Amino acid sequence: MAVTYELIKTCKQTGARLGRVHTPHGVIETPAFMPVGTQATVKTMSPEELKQMDAHIILSNTYHLWLRPGHELIAKAGGLHRFMNWDRPILTDSGGFQVFSLSNMRKIREEGVDFRSHLNGDKLFLSPEKAMEIQNALGSDIMMAFDECPPYPAEYEYIKQSLERTTRWAERCLKAHARPGDQGLFAIVQGGMHADLRRQSAADLTSLDFPGYAIGGLSVGEPKHLMYEVLEETVPLLPSNKPRYLMGVGSPDALLDGAIRGIDMFDCVLPTRIARNGTTMTSEGRVNLRNAKHTEDFGPLDPNCSCYTCRNYSRAYLRHLIKADETFGIRLTTYHNLHFLLEMMRGVRQAIQEDRLLDFRNEFFTMYGLHDN
Ligand code: GUN
Ligand code: ZN
Repeated sequence: MAVTYELIKTCKQTGARLGRVHTPHGVIETPAFMPVGTQATVKTMSPEELKQMDAHIILSNTYHLWLRPGHELIAKAGGLHRFMNWDRPILTDSGGFQVFSLSNMRKIREEGVDFRSHLNGDKLFLSPEKAMEIQNALGSDIMMAFDECPPYPAEYEYIKQSLERTTRWAERCLKAHARPGDQGLFAIVQGGMHADLRRQSAADLTSLDFPGYAIGGLSVGEPKHLMYEVLEETVPLLPSNKPRYLMGVGSPDALLDGAIRGIDMFDCVLPTRIARNGTTMTSEGRVNLRNAKHTEDFGPLDPNCSCYTCRNYSRAYLRHLIKADETFGIRLTTYHNLHFLLEMMRGVRQAIQEDRLLDFRNEFFTMYGLHDN
């Protein structure tokens, strides 16, 4: 099998899992955070820099690469790894979510989704078969099934119809998958905030035996406690010998509280997106470099951080670069934010190893200025 999960141990304090996901391009230590490289680049970072901060895997997007430059071109280049010069694992999202969040005038039917390109308005059609064709051409290590992520809130009946269609689409993805030997296809559990619908989705998808399972439809504007209730309801229904991926979640508190509920993989644009407007995550909480109080602060961004940015540059300099719209400024904040989350995840794995993840979480929350609610 292209992608397998190895459980190393579970934390006695929390039940969180320490593990490894094995892929054709190497091993992912889990729980893992995946930096997002939507357009075959993690915005402003070189692959060398991502390796320096020890990113094990990055995520990219079927939807964007299909529209531009096209999956055929990337296949001609020798696949996405060769095209972007990244030889570690890549996960590609299926396009389902992006069609719903980016495109105009979409129409969902059993066959697939009609929509217009967000780039030039062209009429396009994406289906389970097309999403597999594109991801097979990209050659990602982990492919995602084509799904619908319903908005929050939505009618119960709509969510039920939608998750049943998502399950039928997942079956079509399995059938259309041309490279099961070297690309792992993960299914996506949907069902909104309803426990019974999550159970239905998980039961139907696990009977199809995918090499991994994602939980989708979360972090769509619902209160956090609802997300945790859904995880508590859903994760125990997923096979313990397969990886579990919580899609689109990447705030430090949610990474910790997700790992505690048995999640192995996460992705989010949050660290890279906020970095580009000058917001950073530090051991003492968020720091917005645009704030005037940093004007004459010649100390490091985060005194507890060992990253390139914090070893070499002051808050005053970073603030100047951000305010002057200098590209180097957003490179430095992006580097720090990704390093910060990847370092936090190393801490999570170490804490699981030592059966002290709850202590680690509480220490982190106190330092970061987070509160339980
Ligand atoms: N990214 C965040 N949430 C989702 C989801 O529900 N489905 C997909 N395909 N991608 C996501
Ligand atoms: Zn740093």
